[in-house]
Amino acid sequence: MEQLLFLKEFFRHWKEVGSIAPSSRFLSERLCRQIDFCRAETLVEFGPGLGNITRELLRRMRPDARLIAFEINGNFCRRISEIGDLRLTVHNRSVCSLRDEAFGKADYVVSGIPLTLCSLQTREAVFSSSRSLLREGGVYLQYQFTPAVYPAIKRAFGNVELDFVLANTPPAFIYKSIHYAGDGGCAH
Ligand SMILES: C[S@@+](CC[C@H](N)C(=O)[O-])C[C@H]1O[C@@H](n2cnc3c(N)ncnc32)[C@H](O)[C@@H]1O
Repeated sequence: MEQLLFLKEFFRHWKEVGSIAPSSRFLSERLCRQIDFCRAETLVEFGPGLGNITRELLRRMRPDARLIAFEINGNFCRRISEIGDLRLTVHNRSVCSLRDEAFGKADYVVSGIPLTLCSLQTREAVFSSSRSLLREGGVYLQYQFTPAVYPAIKRAFGNVELDFVLANTPPAFIYKSIHYAGDGGCAH
């Protein structure tokens, strides 16, 4: 059922959903390996979809940590709100205009926004929202199905590391950048 709902939303909003299947357990686990859960207090997720990565984050998070998720698709939002974990807050809102939010600064931004399908304007807005939300030294994690956004992420953050997960439909690249105030941040 979950797979079917995801596929249905893909056919309705393919540029936003960006994939025919939710993230695999292998991709969720590999992403989580990049996170220091002992220290992470505030995590932000962009585009949680049906919540495969959300659940893995919550499973590993400290009891006093919090996860704030932004999802543009109302049907996905309703589904992940059913997770019912008090540490999770779900906003049915685009990530494109996030700035100084009430929850303060984040240690991690985990993004599944399809950067290769969205407009250049949206892509740059994802980067600037992430940089505004992250604390100094905070980490931006982005998964994508091509390595094509490497130069754009490098420009935005001034640094990027790449990992690859074969066991996902389709196989995925994980980008990791550290946010240093003053580095990158300009849409050139
Ligand atoms: C590739 S799917 C990832 C879904 C889920 N995280 C997973 O791993 O299975 C991309 C998600 O980003 C959401 N999305 C796309 N553009 C968005 C935007 N501007 N703001 C918030 N969510 C967005 C889509 O609705 C979709 O749920």
